Amino acid sequence: MRTSEIRKKYLEFFQSKNHAVIPSAPLVPENDPSVLFNTAGMQPLVPYLLGKPHPMGKRLVDVQKCVRTGDIDDVGDDTHLTFFEMLGNWSLGDYFKQESIAWSWEFLTDARWLGLDPAMISVTVFSGDENAPRDDESAALWESLGMPKERIAYLPAEDNWWAAGPTGPCGPDTEIFYWVGEGAPQGNKGTHPKQWMEIWNNVFMQYNRVDETTLEKLPAPCVDTGMGLERTAVTLGGMKSVYETDAFADVLETIRVLVGTEKYNERSARIIADHTRAAVHMIADGVVPKNVDQGYILRRLIRRAIREFYKMNYEKPVIAEVGHLFIGKFIDIYESVREHAEKIKSELSREEEKFRATLSKGLKEFERRLEQGTLSGKDAFDLFATYGFPLEMTQELAHERGKTVEEALFREEFKKHQDLSRTASAGKFKGGLADHSPKVTAFHTATHLMLAGLRKELGSAVHQAGSNITEERTRFDFTYPEKVSRDILDRVERYVNTAIDAQADVVTEVMEKKTAKASGIEGSFWEKYPEKVTVYTVEGPGKTIFSRELCGGPHVKNTAEIGAFGRLKIAKEEASSAGVRRIKAFLE
Ligand code: SER
Repeated sequence: MRTSEIRKKYLEFFQSKNHAVIPSAPLVPENDPSVLFNTAGMQPLVPYLLGKPHPMGKRLVDVQKCVRTGDIDDVGDDTHLTFFEMLGNWSLGDYFKQESIAWSWEFLTDARWLGLDPAMISVTVFSGDENAPRDDESAALWESLGMPKERIAYLPAEDNWWAAGPTGPCGPDTEIFYWVGEGAPQGNKGTHPKQWMEIWNNVFMQYNRVDETTLEKLPAPCVDTGMGLERTAVTLGGMKSVYETDAFADVLETIRVLVGTEKYNERSARIIADHTRAAVHMIADGVVPKNVDQGYILRRLIRRAIREFYKMNYEKPVIAEVGHLFIGKFIDIYESVREHAEKIKSELSREEEKFRATLSKGLKEFERRLEQGTLSGKDAFDLFATYGFPLEMTQELAHERGKTVEEALFREEFKKHQDLSRTASAGKFKGGLADHSPKVTAFHTATHLMLAGLRKELGSAVHQAGSNITEERTRFDFTYPEKVSRDILDRVERYVNTAIDAQADVVTEVMEKKTAKASGIEGSFWEKYPEKVTVYTVEGPGKTIFSRELCGGPHVKNTAEIGAFGRLKIAKEEASSAGVRRIKAFLE
């Protein structure tokens, strides 16, 4: 059965039990800053579980988009996914255990619905602790439906108590499993934990955890059920892995064709497919790649997917193409995907472009540092700041070589960097060379390139008249008598971006000021420099000189370090003072 049919049947079944269909909430919780993404169907419904009346009534059914990154290292096995869809039915103070269990059974086993073989199913119930008694009631309900005693496992809170987080609605649950072991089904989840795969979880929400020691009763007991769509498809298809289902199979095949069968690695392809699918939905729901919060997770997923392609020796741009396949799968299901199809592709391409500009160099730098023995938190931070390697990627790379990375030291460096950024954006070091953060440094070199581009387009009468650089942008003043057309600005932008893409080295030389001046090296404010000056030359392949300028620094060692932050965009050109124009440009 295709995933689209399962979604449809599920909604239909619960509609027939008087449930109102509600749409999936966006992946990013609207009013809950404590979590980055909805990790379960219940999250957007918390206020209603706590007693607020829902406009659609007390019986609801939905398919909720979820993201869980806690098990990201398991992605690539048969069942773990970062993005998944959870089928859920909800009683907000209406029905409780009896209906919930009976309807789950009916939906799973009745031939009109999923028609699964009851002999392949087992369940678990809560074994009881100081918070709630042993759930004999649920066990009895299962037995009344024909579940043999030996298929019912009583398990402790670790397995059969559900809560989305340290506080909030919670309660005991009963979970439903399908036999995935060899031969005929045996025992239950307690006796054969690996051979039974969870397909559905029915939580009997009775409590609200206020803090570590306080468990309050909810105004009315509720039911929260969650059934993984992809796992259900596996079960129904008699398959072993979610990647065999229509949610993934053709994408994996496309990846195989792209990289070639000899180079193809199933685990890499699975990671690529999972991560790209998650990225598609994150972008559809308004997330863009960044270095913080949801944007960081998104960035991490996209970059990890790109690296998996590299592992299979595939180094061409490809992520937007994979994203396109998933857009096709969801375009008729989620409006968010339909509306943002183009944006999804362009964000994926942009992020890929950015990362590919630095990935090879970063990998070389990683190897170089590793040759020196260990990899410190500072090394990991440098790889992050200069080459855009998420910490987790460096950890993974290190792990593959049997090494570890000092995470605490990374965090310290990261914090210092954040403090610096905050100071910079607070304006303390405005434009001063005191701020040598990687981004400001990148802007300094980009500004040199911009001046070189302007001189190329407008002639050598153009000189720097001032600059002001922050983490956010470069503001650059230059001598020129009239407005510069957008056409020319575009060409200047292209000039700079060509230099960025060329991964050009920045060569530093110290020379006599007199010699520098006499040889026509570009520079302004000569008087403020001492007798010896530093000249920075951005040197591309075949000794192409992109820029040569006298400066007090700081500058990157290679333009790929600029690329790690993006490409240059000239946003504004205006008059600054008589004969002086001002440009504002970003790296994005
Ligand atoms: N909240 C439970 C879960 O996520 C059931 O929906 O498993």
